[in-house]
Amino acid sequence: MKRVRVSAGRTPYDVWIGEGVLNRARLRSAVGDGADGILISSKRVMDLHGEALVRALRDAGFNSRRTLLLPDGEGAKTPRAFERTLQAMAKAGLDRSSFVIAFGGGSIGDSAGFAAATYMRGIRFVQIPTTLLSMVDSSVGGKTGINLPSGKNLVGSFHQPALVLADVSFLRTLPPREKQSGVYEILKCGLLKSERLLDLIANTRGLRRATTSQMETAIEGAVRIKARIVERDEREEGDRILLNLGHTLGHALEAATAYRVFTHGEAIGYGMEFAVDLGESLGITSAASARLMRETILKVGIRAPIRPEMATLAQRASLTDKKRQGGHLREILLGRPQRPLVHRMDAQDFARATGRWLTAAAARNTDTSSF
Ligand code: GLY
Repeated sequence: MKRVRVSAGRTPYDVWIGEGVLNRARLRSAVGDGADGILISSKRVMDLHGEALVRALRDAGFNSRRTLLLPDGEGAKTPRAFERTLQAMAKAGLDRSSFVIAFGGGSIGDSAGFAAATYMRGIRFVQIPTTLLSMVDSSVGGKTGINLPSGKNLVGSFHQPALVLADVSFLRTLPPREKQSGVYEILKCGLLKSERLLDLIANTRGLRRATTSQMETAIEGAVRIKARIVERDEREEGDRILLNLGHTLGHALEAATAYRVFTHGEAIGYGMEFAVDLGESLGITSAASARLMRETILKVGIRAPIRPEMATLAQRASLTDKKRQGGHLREILLGRPQRPLVHRMDAQDFARATGRWLTAAAARNTDTSSF
């Protein structure tokens, strides 16, 4: 069992990682005996793991006034789902001392967290992530939010949780492709700050062969890296932008394919490869470092292939990136592993480079089997 303390927001909080971390003592430590609140999850997650959670909440003396089930995936992050959540909280009579318990993947956590951030100008919430991606990324760091028809995460707030419980036993029911999606975020942290994480990924065939203890180590490593960055820059005014390594092209690819073709991890996996190639073409990354990083990225496994028609769509989508400022955007490059830097680029040049890279990647991919 591992613990990472995050000193961000008003009160520092703990991220517990391990088998069976979802228990009474840990819940009580943050929530206190006799607390009340709402449990927000999805039907699928409750069917799979609800019993364990309900038991732990009851043992901790938590009075769950209501369980609200939201759709899985982005359906949890619509303005309508958000309004439903606030209405349910009001109807359940929650007040400023109540808690939101977010139980599920990243979308549930983002949406429930944003409801906690805004209901009565902010109440406390607990993140209990059930996917690898949400354990290593969205449950930690306090970014909460929902989508608008015109873009993802366009409405949101920084609101740190009171506690994060990442119970790795939930990963047993996670489909391999979903697990792989989280591995790419762990890989990102390794490329940014930890050779040890990269070695662990390489030596366990992209964590596919990882033991439970190695998986805990990988999650802890990624969470610790994210925690240290968020502690320095909670509101993404400085270093937090490093966590966007691979995300500009990744988000463009996801948007261009209506979030239906790639997992988030696959998309940022391509984005990280792009960043390595771009760094090499700009003379920022040496050929040897670029080769090493490309090999490590490929060890995470096969991905849904890029198709030629995606290039133009993603090129266009990259121009609407949220990180764009005026005619420029900031792309994270790597001088070598663990040496990230922020590279300011003309947005049109960036979009053209994206289009060229995706066209070339699609040509390389034509013989790859599709999912
Ligand atoms: N997922 C990137 C961040 O939390 O800043």
